[in-house]
Amino acid sequence: MLANAHVSELSRDQDDLFAHVVIDGLSRPQKTLPCRYFYDARGSDLFERITELPEYYPTRTEAGLLARHARQMTDSLSDGGVLVEFGSGSSRKTELLLDELPERAAYIAIDVSPDALVHAHARLARRYPNLDIRPIVGDFSELSHLPSAFTGQPKLGFFPGSTIGNLTPAEASRLLQRFKSLLSGDGRLIIGIDLKKDKPTLERAYNDSAGVTADFNLNLLTRINREIEPVFDIDRFAHVARYNDREGRIEMHLVSRCDQSFAVRGHRFTMRTGETIHTENSYKYSIAQFQALARCSGWRPVRVWTDANSLFSVHELA
Ligand code: SAH
Ligand code: AVI
Repeated sequence: MLANAHVSELSRDQDDLFAHVVIDGLSRPQKTLPCRYFYDARGSDLFERITELPEYYPTRTEAGLLARHARQMTDSLSDGGVLVEFGSGSSRKTELLLDELPERAAYIAIDVSPDALVHAHARLARRYPNLDIRPIVGDFSELSHLPSAFTGQPKLGFFPGSTIGNLTPAEASRLLQRFKSLLSGDGRLIIGIDLKKDKPTLERAYNDSAGVTADFNLNLLTRINREIEPVFDIDRFAHVARYNDREGRIEMHLVSRCDQSFAVRGHRFTMRTGETIHTENSYKYSIAQFQALARCSGWRPVRVWTDANSLFSVHELA
């Protein structure tokens, strides 16, 4: 009884936080919503579908690099230790690294999406019955320590998918500094970074012909309607993704198809036709740019792997 009361209090706190974040974002001159809220159960599912789209090259390119170089990437854990993944999602790519680890290794998976963690945990537990798997639901940018059971063990961080590209360079630098201390100073980090390339290839990756990325973007409004209160008429919005050359990032927006107004918990907002809600940035780096960011965040670039077409890079930092 007490435990249930505690759980419902916690989830009320989360709901209040979500409503607060939405009201704050919609109150800005450029309306914005944070992309970490994309990943409810349907959002995590839609992201998995994005990874299989012909236009979305990052996932299969990075998986190819992991498959080819997994042994080198995991050599700091060859005698055991802990693999710590940030934004683990389905943990599909993780299997490529886990296949190289000794039996006594452990795996900590951190993600904001409980649904993604539950599915990944069930699959990995079947595939690696002796692996100590620790799913943690939470925001990786707020994590201050890892479970104390792993104190003193070698640690390898894993941050694939170019998820760090969803943060501004200043936020990315703060996150890299946090990971440095989480991984106890001498841990290594394997991190996937999407590379700068021609604009049509980038824009196609975020404007797929099947419309899955559009559904992923619009699902944020559906989530607000369900978890806060019915706010949006989804048909009044359209998905837009374009490359911003000056900032070096893909921007995703939800554009208003008409003049409209709506309210969130009593706060009224208006939008003109063509006005947008900015929902995601996806920064693209050159190898040198990312290595410079890593250096000024307390890391030393060790090795980097790229594909033949220089679409994507995987970096080892120490
Ligand atoms: N690592 C996977 C999934 C990438 S999608 C891959 O490379 O394919 C981004 C993942 O990060 C999602 O599973 C999402 O739920 C999670 N995520 C996004 N922001 C997060 C945050 N602030 N803290 C923890 N997880 C986050
Ligand atoms: C998770 N993240 C790195 C993806 C990206 O490419 O920025 C999320 C995504 N957004 C639209 N498509 C995929």
